[in-house]
Order: sequence, then C-alpha cells, then structure tokens
Amino acid sequence: MKEGDYVGPGNILGLVRETPIFEHRILLPPHLEGQIEYIQKEGLYDLKDSIAHIETTLGLIEISMLQRWPVRQARPYLRRLIPDTPLITGQRVIDTFFPMAKGGAAGIPGGFGTGKTVTQHQLAKWCDADVIVYIGCGERGNEMTGVLMEFSKLMDLKRDRPLMERTIPIANTSDMPLAAREASIYTEITIAEYYRDMGYDVALMADSTSRWAEALREISGRLEEMPAEEGSPAYLASRLAKFYERAGRVQILCDKAGSVSAICAVSPPGGDFSEPVTQHTKRFVRCFWGLNKELASARYFPAIHYMESYSEYLDLIQNWWICRIDPEWRTLRDEAMHILQQDFKLQKIVKLIGEDALPDNQRLILEGARVFKNAFLQQSAFDEVDVYTVPEKQFFMLKVIMHFYQRAKVIIRRHIPLYRVMQLPILNNINRMKEKISNHDTESFHLLLEEIDIQMNELEKESMAIL
Ligand SMILES: Nc1ncnc2c1ncn2[C@@H]1O[C@H](COP(=O)(O)OP(=O)(O)OP(=O)(O)O)[C@@H](O)[C@H]1O
Ligand SMILES: [Mg+2]
Repeated sequence: MKEGDYVGPGNILGLVRETPIFEHRILLPPHLEGQIEYIQKEGLYDLKDSIAHIETTLGLIEISMLQRWPVRQARPYLRRLIPDTPLITGQRVIDTFFPMAKGGAAGIPGGFGTGKTVTQHQLAKWCDADVIVYIGCGERGNEMTGVLMEFSKLMDLKRDRPLMERTIPIANTSDMPLAAREASIYTEITIAEYYRDMGYDVALMADSTSRWAEALREISGRLEEMPAEEGSPAYLASRLAKFYERAGRVQILCDKAGSVSAICAVSPPGGDFSEPVTQHTKRFVRCFWGLNKELASARYFPAIHYMESYSEYLDLIQNWWICRIDPEWRTLRDEAMHILQQDFKLQKIVKLIGEDALPDNQRLILEGARVFKNAFLQQSAFDEVDVYTVPEKQFFMLKVIMHFYQRAKVIIRRHIPLYRVMQLPILNNINRMKEKISNHDTESFHLLLEEIDIQMNELEKESMAIL
C-alpha cells in the first residue's frame, strides 16, 4: 500500500513477521475506509504507534497496529462459504470416519477421564490449520502448563519450527474468577476471527464449554434470574448457538477466504449425555465425537465410539479425498462403517447365545470389526509412529483391512473354516501396520496387499487339495 491508495475495511496495510513461520497482517479495522494520506516506512514500531493516516468521511483517522473489538460481537465478513475442505487431524477415526471440515464446528463430549483433553491436544498439535487458538477454560492448571511446556518443544511437521510459533494459548484455569471464565470463550473466538480476517485457517479448541456453562449458571444465579433446565439460565441454548455460529468458512472483507473451526470439549457430569450443555451442543455442531466410558476404562483410545458419533461434513468433503487420495475412498469407508454397524447389532446376540453359535459369515463380521477396532480405530497418542497418520496412510490401512475382509468373505463361502483364515500370519502384520509402517512408506502397503493375496491363495489351494 502506498500514499494516495484507497483502502476498504479489512484491507491489509502492512506485514509483521511475528515468528519465523507466522506473518501477522495489519488490517484496516472493519467499518473504516478512505484514502491513505500517510503511511510509515518499513521499520520497528510499537503496537500503539501510528502507522498510517486515513482520510475518511469522518475526517483524518490515525491507524495503529492495536485493534480493539467487543468480544461478544462477531467480526464482520462478506459471505459464508461451503466448508468443503477437510481439517486433516492425523487421527484415523476422525479423518476417515467422522471428518471435520475447515470452518466446521465439532463437539467432544465425554465423562471424567475419557480422553477429551488428550484428543484436543492431539488436534492442536497435528491438525493442518494455520493458527491454533487453545483455551483451557476452567480446567486444571497443570494441564495448561503441559500445553505451554509441550507445545514449545514440539515441532511443526511441515515447517520444522516449534508449534508454539503459531499457537495462541489462553489460560483460564479453575482458580480464576468466574466472570473471566464466562468471557474467556468469547475472547478466544474473537482472536480466532481476527486471524481469520487475515485470510488464515484457524482452529479453535476449548476445554471445556461445560466449565463455561457453569460460570454462566453461577453468574445467572447471583443475578437472581429464573433458572431453567437443571439450574442453567434459560438463555444457555441461545448463547451456545451464538458462539458456534461464529465458526465457519467465509469470504473475508478483503475478498480472500478464511475459516474458524471450533472444536469444543463438553464434560457432562457423570458422563450423562442427556444433560443440557451436551444436548444443546449437539443441536449446533455438525460433527459429534462421543467419548465412551467403557472404551476408556478398557484403555481403548481414542475412546470415540463409532455408534455415538457422527459427522455431517462427510458428503461435503468427500471430493477432496476422492480427487486427492483415491477414487475408492468413499466406497471403502462406507463398507467399513457398515461392518462396524453390523458388528454392533451382532454383539447383542453374542451376549445372549455366545459367539460360537453364530455361522461363519456372521463371525467374519465380528472378526472384521475386531481387526478394524484394533488395527485402525485404536491410535496411541504416545507412540512415535502411531501418533499421526497422513491421509495416504489412512487410505492404505483402510484398503488393506478391506482387502483382507473381502478375500476372507469369498474363502469362507467355499466352506473353508473361518479359524483357518484368522490363523494366517499376515493378520499379525495387519494388526501392527499402524506402528510398523511409517507415514510415507507406500511400498510396504503394496507388499502387504500382495502378501494377503499370496497367503489367501495358498489357503484356497490347500483346501481344494483336501476336497
Ligand atoms: N489418544 C490417547 N492415547 C493414549 N492414551 C490416551 C488417549 N486419550 C486419553 N488417554 C489416556 O487417558 C487419560 C485421561 O485422558 P484426559 O485427561 O484427556 O481425559 P479428560 O476427559 O480430559 O478427563 P477430565 O474429565 O478429567 O478432564 C490420559 O492421561 C491418557 O493416559
Ligand atoms: Mg480434561
């Protein structure tokens, strides 16, 4: 920008390299437009120094790098765009089964110790957003210290710099004042919107909105307002709606696209999802990752239960996977989901009559689902290789398991007993591929697919000989 130029709301006046991997764009505040009468040269300036003079209809206005904004009010944009790009998180159960879109809103409800915080940390560390805004809202102080200590050591995979250089942590731990807690999630989303207005994809994590709702309830109680459901104020739902509505992929004031993705944990007391905060959150988010207490107590992580979770972004983002990764992606993903759903129904029968009473084709469903759960859905946040899976590897893992399943299906139709298939040594390699095969080693997956065919063919030949 130079003197004499006409600038509109949200236009970029200059750039500040805030960290080696992050460029802060100085924006003209919304609602302001005019001609640049004077603009500072490149140099070192303080936040409050005047960097430009703009001649507006209201007179000459001095612009500094500091912007003020009332946090409860959404920052303006031109129009909303369809969220059709996935937010890649590297977590298989999320990316493949319940994907999140850039500009989407997701809720992670779960009882005490089910893995809300670890899941959010995982997303903050690995998701492919440009900026992360992380708030510890009413949670333990040591968890926030963990974020600060861990993130400054962790490296950004793509840019080889500490993750902290593009993360904004906001601490509002449980010992801080109530009013601050109530305001904290608005502060978070306003900061996220501010970076969105620079044309970035921002991911916002809040741990947890239940603590925010508690603050809302306590303040409302002290104001002697009439309580509604379970003591929460009657406006709980509208406040939540207003908050989640601020997430989205939008065309920003200077015409580019930017997004705010909101990922919020909910901690329902006693893990009871029928309480108001979880129920209202469910109304306003389009992606719901339900954490299950039984899975967590069996140390099965992430404890995202495939029957309690859903994503409405699947149809919107499927083209990304189909065009960039593989045309077969959606078909394989749906077939895998179908196996898991059938398994869920069969488990009820198994409880009554036992697994051995089932015919082989139904037992294959149980075995197939077991492989899926162990080899694909279960993912350790503490294993060096398993911690993050790139989309290509996720697809290959899906393909390998489905290939094994399809071949097994054909084989048992030829009256070869299921236990023979489940004894094949390749199954061990399939179960360990998540830790043993690194992210870009596609060669090993091709070998694995070939080996499945070799072992299945041998089994077929062997049984034909017996017949
Ligand atoms: N993806 C994972 N991989 C491995 N371990 C996990 C994973 N997720 C959770 N855990 C284990 O579960 C424990 C509890 O997780 P976490 O602290 O995230 O639960 P929480 O739901 O946030 O609990 P609270 O309600 O107390 O805040 C962790 O300390 C960790 O050992
Ligand atoms: Mg927690």
